[in-house]
Formats: sequence, C-alpha cells, structure tokens
Amino acid sequence: MHLTREEERIYCGEHGWASQMCMKILIQLGDLFKADRLIPIRSAHVSGVSYKTLGDAPIEFLKVLADAGGRVKVRSTLNPQSFDPDQLGKKLPEHVRKRQQAILDQFDRMGFKSSLTCTPYYLGKVEKGWHLAWAESSAVVYANSVLRAYTNREGGPSALAAALIGKTPNYGVHQSENRKPSILVHVEDPLMNEMEHGTLGIYLGRILGDRIPFIEGLKKSSSEDLKQLGAGLAASGMTNMFLTEKTYSKSREPIEKVSVKAADIRKTCEELSTNPGGQLDLVFVGCPHCSLREVKRIARLVDGKKIRGQLECWVCTSRYVKERAMEDVKRIEKAGARVLVDMCTIVSWTEKMGIKSIMTNSAKTAYYAPTLNRADTRLASLEECLKTAFRG
Ligand code: F3S
Repeated sequence: MHLTREEERIYCGEHGWASQMCMKILIQLGDLFKADRLIPIRSAHVSGVSYKTLGDAPIEFLKVLADAGGRVKVRSTLNPQSFDPDQLGKKLPEHVRKRQQAILDQFDRMGFKSSLTCTPYYLGKVEKGWHLAWAESSAVVYANSVLRAYTNREGGPSALAAALIGKTPNYGVHQSENRKPSILVHVEDPLMNEMEHGTLGIYLGRILGDRIPFIEGLKKSSSEDLKQLGAGLAASGMTNMFLTEKTYSKSREPIEKVSVKAADIRKTCEELSTNPGGQLDLVFVGCPHCSLREVKRIARLVDGKKIRGQLECWVCTSRYVKERAMEDVKRIEKAGARVLVDMCTIVSWTEKMGIKSIMTNSAKTAYYAPTLNRADTRLASLEECLKTAFRG
C-alpha cells in the first residue's frame, strides 16, 4: 500500500505511540485486502461500547491509547452502551455501572461524541459519495444503500484506528467497481410493514453471503423500512449494501436471479418467533434506534392507552432524537412505556432484569435475542406489538 510522507512519519512514531498503533492497524488491514492507499474519511462510528459485549479486557487498551494522546481527527460517534443511566442504572450492580462508565470516560478523553446510538445518520448530515469508517453493521448497510455514502463494515478496532487517523484503507465498497450487484432479488408480493422488511433482510442475508443484491419491489418502502431491511441483512449475512430501483438502473441487470414470496417471509417470521403465544415480559421497539418520525408514530398509536399489567414496553432511540420529540415522549410515557436512550435491548443486561420473553418488531432483535439475551422472542409489526402492550 502506498503511504504519503506524512503517513510514513506517523507509522515511524513521529506523532506518538497512539497514532503509530492506529496507523499499524490500518496498514495491516489495507495489506490484507490489497488496498492501494489510505483515503480521508468524513466520520467514524465505533461499535463495541457496551460493557456487556466488550467485557473488561479492552478497557485497559482504551486507557493506554487515551493516555498516549490518542485524539479523534474526524467527527466520531459511538454505538449504544449497556443501559440508560437515568432509567435503568439503579437496576444494575454498582460494579457494572462503574465499568461501563470507565469505557465511556476513555472514549470521551479521545474526543468521541457520546452519541451512544446505532443510527448516527440521524445526528447529522451524511452526503452521497462521502467516505466513512463505520462499524455498526445496520448503519453500514443504511449508509451505503440509502444515503449512498461509502463505508466498509469496520470492526471496532479498525473504526477506532480510522477515527484517530482520519483515514481508512481504500478497498471493498469504497471503490465504485465493487458496488455492483451480482444477484437480482425479485420481491413478488408487497411487503406490508417494517417487520416484513427486516424479515426479508434475515431471509436474504442467509442466502447472499457477502454478495450485493439488486432488490426489485421496494418502490413503496420508506427509509425506516429500508433501515429494517439493512439491519436484517447485516445480522444474518455479510452483505454491506443493497441496490433498489431508486439507486440502480435495471439495464445493467445481474445474471443470477431469486424470487421471494410472501410465504418465504411468513416462514422466516415464524422461525424467528420462538415464543409465538406464551407469556411476555417485554415489548421492545427501536432496533435500530427510532427516528423522529417513528417516535411520533408510536406516540399516536399509544395516545390515551395504558400498558397491560406488569408488562414492560421499551422504545429505544438516541438522546438526540428524544430531546427533539419531548411532546411525543411524554405521551408515550403517560401510557406507561419507557423511552430509553443510549442503549438497546440486545446490548443490555436483560437477563439480570428478569426478562425472559421479548416481543419486537425488529427481525434483527428476534434473530439475536435467543442467544445474546437468552430470551424467547415473538416477532410482529409495530402495530401488533403496541396492541399487545397497551389496552384502551
Ligand atoms: Fe442498534 Fe442494538 Fe439493534 S445497537 S441495530 S438497537 S441490536
């Protein structure tokens, strides 16, 4: 990989140990994938922030990097942590809260924004053609497919290194020639809601591997529907992007074709529902984190209603969105739900809170919760989730 004089100086340690370490990570990655050079990025987004998924070992590494003067060179944001400090902090042991705070403190010292959301694209503008280094897989697919920015699916360490250098290796979907579809997916029956889009994502992720699909039949899908589709695709597969009729001309049609029918979506939804009719502890919406429009819709749907019995209902979003939707948040909270920020169900300690069964409209959550939260799942549309959680 070609390095500029400045990059060579960083590699040799002239800018300090932290930058040298990060440059070594980027060069190793670039060599592995045969990148020709490093390219500047507009932003970085780091995953692996929750103490539940990160554990103790990396905290010392983050501290050493911060002590050595590691500081972000571009706008850099963070994925969710393991709990909402205002609403759920007290339910967790003190040592858990302290270790989580220790992680956040180190990121703070390095200049990361404490965004704590998997939807960094709702926090500020991301323009078509921008190069990014993002590590949250659902955000990667959304950025490439809906926003038409350019980002590989970074790991936590490579996104961190990119944040501290301000560059990423030029390979994969940073290069236009690698952004073409190799398979045509024809969605035969209309998808009815966001849950079915996420379920399509899980179904396709399993058969696509890392291939880019051109998906026909999504003309009426909203950006929130496509967010669910991308989250599902990235959960069960390695695809970094998809193309639609809005973003790709069909004249350049890929050779291989598959069709998806309503029956395929139904069957996948059933597979993702390990508890279709049993008792529920939690109804969870907001994976990926809710947009302003989704918070408004939820407020409309629960207005004047009351939560049923001992059931918990969590609506997860970013602090940024919550602060801009306070009237709607009040309506949701009045109905008995919690609007939680900085966290999500999957990366939080639901087992410690006695949650054994989760109903959700997110296929990604239904895919992960049985293993990561040791919880049974029921997958349904937003409307059905809220009908189950509220009466009146
Ligand atoms: Fe976001 Fe958590 Fe889902 S990080 S994409 S809400 S699993």
